[in-house]
This record gives sequence, C-alpha cells and structure tokens, in this order.
Amino acid sequence: MAQLIIPCRSVTFVRALIISLFTFDKEGDYQLDSRHLTLPSLPAKESFVLEIDTEIYPHKNTSLDGLYKSSGNFCTQCEAEGFRKITFYQDRPDIMAKYTCRVEADKSLYPVLLSNGNLISQGDIEVSNIVTPSVSPFGGRHFALWEDPFKKPCYLFALVAGQLASRDDTFTTRSGREVSLKIWTPAEDLPKTAHAMYSLKAAMKWDEDVFGLEYDLDLFNIVAVPDFNMGAMENKSLNIFNSKLVLASPETATDADYAAILGVIGHEVCNRALCCLWNLILVTCRDWFQLSLKEGLTVFRDQEFSSDMGSRTVKRIADVSTLRIYQFPEDAGPMAHPVRPHSYIKMDNFYTGKFSIYLRSLGFLLSIVFQSNVLVFSFMKRVLISISKDMMSKLVTCEDFFAAMRDANNADFANFLQWYSQAGTPVVKVASSYNAEARTFSLKFSQEIPPTPGQPTKEATFIPVTISSSSTILRVTKKEEEFVFSDIAERPVPSLFRGFSAPVRVETDLSDDDLFFLLAHDSDEFNRPLVLNPKFIQGLGSVLSDSTLDKEFIAKAITLPGEGEIMDMMAVADPDAVHVVRKFVRKQLASELKTELLKIVENNRSIEAYVFDHPNMARRALKNTGSRFAFTTSLASLEDPSYVELALSEYKSATNLTDQFAALAALSQNPGKTRDDVLADFYNKWQGDYLVVNKWFLLQSSSDIPGNVENIHALQTTIIQVYSLIGGFCGSPVNFHAKDGSGYKFLGDIVVQLDKINPQVASRMLSAFSRWKRYDETRQALAKAQLEMIMSANGLSENVFEIASKSLAA
Ligand code: PHE
Repeated sequence: MAQLIIPCRSVTFVRALIISLFTFDKEGDYQLDSRHLTLPSLPAKESFVLEIDTEIYPHKNTSLDGLYKSSGNFCTQCEAEGFRKITFYQDRPDIMAKYTCRVEADKSLYPVLLSNGNLISQGDIEVSNIVTPSVSPFGGRHFALWEDPFKKPCYLFALVAGQLASRDDTFTTRSGREVSLKIWTPAEDLPKTAHAMYSLKAAMKWDEDVFGLEYDLDLFNIVAVPDFNMGAMENKSLNIFNSKLVLASPETATDADYAAILGVIGHEVCNRALCCLWNLILVTCRDWFQLSLKEGLTVFRDQEFSSDMGSRTVKRIADVSTLRIYQFPEDAGPMAHPVRPHSYIKMDNFYTGKFSIYLRSLGFLLSIVFQSNVLVFSFMKRVLISISKDMMSKLVTCEDFFAAMRDANNADFANFLQWYSQAGTPVVKVASSYNAEARTFSLKFSQEIPPTPGQPTKEATFIPVTISSSSTILRVTKKEEEFVFSDIAERPVPSLFRGFSAPVRVETDLSDDDLFFLLAHDSDEFNRPLVLNPKFIQGLGSVLSDSTLDKEFIAKAITLPGEGEIMDMMAVADPDAVHVVRKFVRKQLASELKTELLKIVENNRSIEAYVFDHPNMARRALKNTGSRFAFTTSLASLEDPSYVELALSEYKSATNLTDQFAALAALSQNPGKTRDDVLADFYNKWQGDYLVVNKWFLLQSSSDIPGNVENIHALQTTIIQVYSLIGGFCGSPVNFHAKDGSGYKFLGDIVVQLDKINPQVASRMLSAFSRWKRYDETRQALAKAQLEMIMSANGLSENVFEIASKSLAA
C-alpha cells in the first residue's frame, strides 16, 4: 500500500490528520519524527484531500527561515526549504499549487495582513466567531483573505502581519495597465523609502525597454524587515527585503548602500520575470540543482540593469572583484562545486552570498557571447519560448537551457556544459610569439582545471577569450590550442580576456613593458593591469590626472587588491607578510603621489545637496579614495598632524554619510584618543538607527589594529549585528589569522553558540575556516582544532555539519 512521507522541521502537530473523510488520529495511523510525517497507508483512491492542522511558534524561530517574528512583525522566508517549517509539505520547486491564505490577527497589534496574489476580502471578526481569544487589551481581531490565482512553488509563498505603513505609487506599463506599488516599513522609516521606490520604477521600466517584459500582476508589494538572512526574496507580489536594502537617506546611507538598493531591487524585479511568470507561462527550476538557471540569468540581468544606470566598466570591475574574492577561493577549497552542484546537504550553503552559483554561471559567459542587449533579449525570448512550448517541460533543467541556447544561435558552444559538471577555476596560460618575416602573430593557449574534492581529473572546457578592440572572441575548447593571425605588420601587445571574458585565472608571458603599455593605452579600462614599479607609479599618476577617464574608474584603479586576494595567489598564504607589504606599497604610492592625491581631494569636494547619480557618486568615490589614501598612510605613520586636522574637518563638515563615513574610516585606522573620540561621537549621534550602528560595528570589527579580538569581545551585541561583527572580524586577515589562534578560537566559539540560534548564519560565518589548509602548519593545527571542536558539539545543524565536515575532509 502506498505510503506518503512529508518533510517537516520544528512543526508541532496538534490535531488529527483528515484524509478525505477518514480521520487519522490513532497510534499507528501516522508516524512523526523531527523531520518527517509518514502516513504508512493511504486510502485506495486516486486522489484525496489531506487536511493537517499544525501549531508553530514564530516568536521562537530565530533561524529566520519559515514564519518568524522580526521587530514585532510576522514575516516568512521560504526559499529554499522554509515552507516545511510552516507546515508539513513536500517543498520541492516542481510541486506547484494555488494558494489561498486567510490571516487572522489582533487588529491593533497587527493592523496590516499581507500575502501573495489578490485581496479577496478583509474585515473584523465577530466576537462570537473568535476561536482563540484576543490577547489585546483593546480587543478586536480581524482577517484578510488572499488568493493567488496562479500556481506556484511554495518557495514563493509569503505572509506578513504587523504594524506597517506604506509609501504608495503607481507604475503604468507600456500597454497602459496601472500597477500599484507599495513599500511597507514601520511608519517612522517611510521617508527613507524614496530611493527604493525610484529603483523599483526604474527597474520595471528598464525591463520593459530592454527586455520587453511587462510586469504581469496588478500589485507589487515590498516589505522591509530588519532580520533577514539574505538580501531579499522575490515572493510573488510580496517581496520581502532586508531593511538595509530598502532604507536610505543621504545622512544614513552611503553611495554603496544606494547602489546596492538599486541593484537588489533590480535583481528581484528581474527574478520575478524569469522564474515566476513570463507571459503567463510559468518557467521554473525542476529542482534545486538547477538553481543557476534562475539566479544566474537574474544576476546577469540585474548586472545589465545596474550597468545601464551607472558606469558599465566600474560595475564590471566591482563584480569581478567580488568573484575573485569569494568565488575563486571557494573553487579551490572544500566547498568547490560546479555551476550545478552534484550533491548538497543544505541548499542554503549554496547561495553563499550569491557568489558561486550566481556569478560564475551563465551571466558572465552570456554577456560575452552576446555583445549587445538587443541580441541578449532576442536570445532569451527564444530560449523561453523554446523551453515552454512543450508545457510539460516548463520545469526546466540546465540541459533545456543549454539546448535552447544552442538551437537559438549559430554559435558553437562546444564543451560549454563542462562548466555545469566540473568544479574549480580553470587556469589559462597564454604564450605569444611574433614572426616578423612571415608577418604572423600567434597566441597559444593551454588550460588546466585544478583537482577538487571528488574530481581528480578534468576535461577541457569552453573558454571565450575576447581580444583586440573589435572584441573578437576566440573560442578555446581544447587543452591546448593555437591561434595564428596573419598580415601583422609589427609585434602587437595583445589585450586578452577583455572585460574579463571568462571566469578563469590567466597567466600570460607579457613583459612589464607590455603591461605598462596596456596600463597607459588599453581602450578596455577593465584590462589596465596593476603592478608596482617606478613606471607603475608614473602610470598611476597619469591615470590620476587624466580628466578623460571616469572618476569612479580612477578610484577603482588606485584601490589596491585586498589582502585576501593577494594571499590567494600565494603557495602558502602568509597574512602577516601580505599585510606589511600591502601597507608599504600603499604608503609608497601615497607619498609619491601626494600632490595629485591632495589635488583630487580639493577638486572633488562639494557642499551641494546629496544627489544619487553617476557623476556625483563618481566624484565622491574619487575624493574619498584619494583622501583615504593620503590620510590613512600619513595618519598611520604620524608623519603630518595636519592630516589629522584635515580628516577631522572632512568628518565634521560632511553633508552626507558617504563623505562622513570615509573620514571616520580613515581616522579609525590608528589607535588613540582621536579614534576613540570620533567613534564615540558617531555612535552618540546614530545610536537610534540600527543600520548606521551596524556600519559603526563593521568599521571596528574589520579594523586591522593589533589585538582587535579583545575589542570585538567588548562589542558583542544582538543577532542583527552578527554579520557586521563576525563577518567584519574574519575579513581582517591579520586579526582573524593571528598566530596565537585567538581569532580562530573566537570564531569557533561563536559558531557553536550561533548554530543553536541561526544555522544559516552560523554556517556562513564558519566558511572563514574552509581554506585552513592554505596556511602554515601552526595555523593549520589551530584551525583544525577548532573545526574538530565544532564537529564534536551537541546537536549540530546540517548547515554547519556540511561546511565543517567538508572542510576537515578536504
Ligand atoms: N532568491 C533570492 C534572491 O534572488 C535569494 C534568496 C535565497 C533569499 C534563499 C533567501 C533565501 O534574491
């Protein structure tokens, strides 16, 4: 006889199950353990109705997964497997259903009741009908009935109940339909939602203009909640966002925050279009292994959106730098996995800050293969039409996508699919040679993908290499491949992998002279390399004073790679050496380029009201990067006290947080009274605004000042600050990797404590250990001891178990 097993987590069963009209309430009718509800024998009918009553305790749910309480309001998070914490449910993405959701609550405590779809009815509940007596002294319960007419996977389900107010606006689609837009926050935060509303409208318009995609529902709700594990969630018509990605004012948010809000709202708008409903055809992932299908394409689209709204080059540099900082190390560590993972214990571990599956996936390759949005648009439409023409295949897989991509184009994608099955970052070596007699120039490529856990050997993969200004694409598909160019009058300096055309590590035989030539002349700003040498300082000087360049690009060009990125290139990572050398390089650059840097600070100061647009952001970025260079270096060496005055006056006279925080960051580099005073001043001013206080925490936790672990102990506070506090601390290699093991011990203890409260956050923090084998033997032993201590802790979550066990086994 058929049996049914339904996953669950933290759900308390309270009433009998009712299957059709048979009640299952006797011992043996069903079995319940902490993970499953099993019905050993089902009615011998083809279909039946299963009714289950459950009881849950959202106020005790600190995992922020399922239904939980955040600052007094209820909200949900169901991707990937949160729905099973609300009720017994087979919460796979291929199981789709229509949802009707009736929410009942105390009217004064929870005046706003939201769910997906359309509001069918709402009203007060007559006292005689109240099942649970009201807890409110004012009495009065009310209800709202929401119905989503479209089938959806449960990961897109959402519910919100609380004291919220909305900023209301409308968006008229290009076919003339009016969509109601609402951004919900506590009433006092409403003034800080103007930028989010601007971003929402801009993203909806962009999606119509560039991709021809009209928003298909009549309502777009965004709710901002302070406690949220990720950035945001694209639930149908009821997006839920981490408040830091909604709330902004010039005084409380930096340019980077404004840009992040624009980008994440763009991401959710794009995500909706792709994975929920496209012209009423639902296209979604068949299972979580296909995650890159929705998130990869969405990241690609949101990157296009942000590029169109600001500077394409700067956006690309920022995205690639994220990739290098997070993806490459992950690829070389215990959690290495291909675009499509082969297995997982907790899917949550595969969203690691959107880095792996997202960035390395389709977006990068697509944007290279298709050089214009028009092409991408027609391509994507064809892909979707081809995927959905057979309604049975609307639950799509990476193979469907690949087949559609191949069929819709003449392009030869050769062994592109290897990206989906092989983990690791390919290393591509390029040797060039010029034959003056034959007037030929040759480029020889060889590719190698390092072994990763469970995959000792690798096949060649498809690597698109863009070269030259005409953006020619060489398709490298073999382990070794040579391309010969004829009729070349003199030895060229090739500009390779322009715009970072493939997510690979590149080793070329270009000489320093070639690199300086590119630094000075490459029309692809992305490809201007950075190396230290007197000529480099000169080159950088000319970049600094080149008024034809985008100011934000100049700011990026003078920003040195981070310590993590540098360590990633060493055979044995040495945090102390990298720290000292990087500091030295910065100091040398700052003293050699002092005049130019100060000029930049002078010329880019402004007391005008804050405007969020590219020219103003670029101006502020350049000014603040220039001043950080000049200030931190001289402050750290106490060479010139007038710099302290200058930094203090920047801090005091700033009219927005971007400028003020930059000055604060510079001043906080050096222990002492000025640092303490200015940090205290900032805290006193902003203690009522937790988002600003979070930044204040981050600034201190990520500081490189010696022995910072002690300061962090003193700072520990609430769960909301965990990211800033622990994440920031682990981001400072000298302190996290301190040779006495104090940083490792701190993280080990925190992970064990945090795992009991929020396993997703605990496992993300734990990832800082995952590359412990990259360090010297002393550090390895210390880190291993912490990982073993964690593994031996009682009641470890699957999230933490997966990372800790894989880290130890690698
Ligand atoms: N799907 C979400 C997005 O694209 C990311 C997310 C994943 C959020 C899992 C929460 C949990 O923004």
